[in-house]
Amino acid sequence: MKTTKIIQLLKETDSIGLNTTVNIKGWVRTKRGNNNVAFINVNDGSIVHGIQVVIDVPNFNEDTLKSITTGACISVDGTLVASMGKGQGVEIQAQHIEILGLADPQTYPLQKKGHSMEFLRSIAHLRPRTNYFSCVLRLRHAMAFAIHQYFNDKGFVYLHTPIITSSDCEGAGEMFHVTTLDISNPPRTAEGDVDYKQDFFGRHTSLTVSGQLNGELGAMALGNIYTFGPTFRAENSNTPRHLAEFWMIEPEMAFYDLDDNMELAEDFIKHCVRYALEHNIDDLQFLNDLFDKELINRLKSVLDVNFVRLPYTEAIDILSKSGQKFDYPVSWGIDLQSEHERYLVEQHFKKPVILIDYPKEIKAFYMKQNDDGKTVRAMDVLFPKIGEIIGGSQREESLEKLMNVIHERKMNEQELWWYLDTRKFGTAPHSGFGLGFERLLLFITGMSNIRDVIPFPRTPQNAEF
Ligand code: 4AD
Ligand code: MG
Repeated sequence: MKTTKIIQLLKETDSIGLNTTVNIKGWVRTKRGNNNVAFINVNDGSIVHGIQVVIDVPNFNEDTLKSITTGACISVDGTLVASMGKGQGVEIQAQHIEILGLADPQTYPLQKKGHSMEFLRSIAHLRPRTNYFSCVLRLRHAMAFAIHQYFNDKGFVYLHTPIITSSDCEGAGEMFHVTTLDISNPPRTAEGDVDYKQDFFGRHTSLTVSGQLNGELGAMALGNIYTFGPTFRAENSNTPRHLAEFWMIEPEMAFYDLDDNMELAEDFIKHCVRYALEHNIDDLQFLNDLFDKELINRLKSVLDVNFVRLPYTEAIDILSKSGQKFDYPVSWGIDLQSEHERYLVEQHFKKPVILIDYPKEIKAFYMKQNDDGKTVRAMDVLFPKIGEIIGGSQREESLEKLMNVIHERKMNEQELWWYLDTRKFGTAPHSGFGLGFERLLLFITGMSNIRDVIPFPRTPQNAEF
């Protein structure tokens, strides 16, 4: 018999028809009952809800029933019937049960409900079997799909930028090295430095921190492109908002100025939020009821408002006059900390804020310089509970101005010759931004730790599974 997914049994009951014989396969969540009747809740991952399987105990082999324990995988043939139990429309009256995989109750770690997030992280290989994590993973999938759909519908080209790179886009020096050299005994130059000419690529390489520089090359030919891939940062930040391996979406648009860039960023995030509310309401409702009673309201509230657009200088003014005591003191020129960002978003404006025109010293080399000589056309989108969710800018299209910064920062212009070529040959105004996929998911799911919105988190001292 063909297996039916539980989501179909629950959502398409009418077209399947009551009293039809069906087969389901899934994992046992709970089992209870007595000598006459037993109830098994089975979940197959297609939806947060399980389906109840009802068993007339005397009709089944005792040993088989005994070995159906929490975590076991079973295949059930039975009749789809209306449920007597409250809160569920249908259940399955079992005719035949096959055990596909046992789960020893002595050692299966997910016996009871209500495990802590910390504990679940230590069993990342099994946590997708919890309701909470399956909701997050379905939402993660839905958001990836919504993102591709959004850009495809707008005519953007999905550009695959390299993961192994020889340039440090953000200039922060937080890159993981990629090498096949014997690190305990690397070849040396006459000066005693490691001789990367003998390395696999004949040069020093790293894992990318951002696809942007390559993305710009694409935009200067295709018009509008986006990247969506893994990025890596070796910053030793053990915070609930940082991963060493995270996914980033980076659109890059020819002929966009900063206003166009902000408009796109706002519309894009709203599309993602709307998509989740329209397509994944079961998952959101579950997370809302169990973890975060404000989740659905918060998601809806973002759709209703226009994001604030605020120059950095005015933000500093607001923070200075706030009377608030911050851990990091506020003055013009500082890189805003999450406490500052969250004050602006959560207390002052009570809606998302796009901060623009940051001091040039705290931003990357490629940003377009303002005429004031002090600030650049940067934009950070700040969100409630999260802080920075997007970082982007208009790019400096003038070769001369870009070269000045490269010299000021003592960067190696030879290594960027290909990037600089775009400013030599048919340069054009252009803009782009990067959305941290997991930061978006923090907002969408209401989770408070970024380790809980990615299947297998990579953080300092942790790369198991
Ligand atoms: O602000 P960032 O560093 O910007 C860039 O990399 C630009 N090249 C993007 C562009 O203009 N194309 O990073 C962009 C976003 C941040 O706003 C944040 O959401 C996320 O990436 N991000 C991280 N997410 C998780 N863990 C980390 N360690 C992150 N670092 C940045
Ligand atoms: Mg940033």
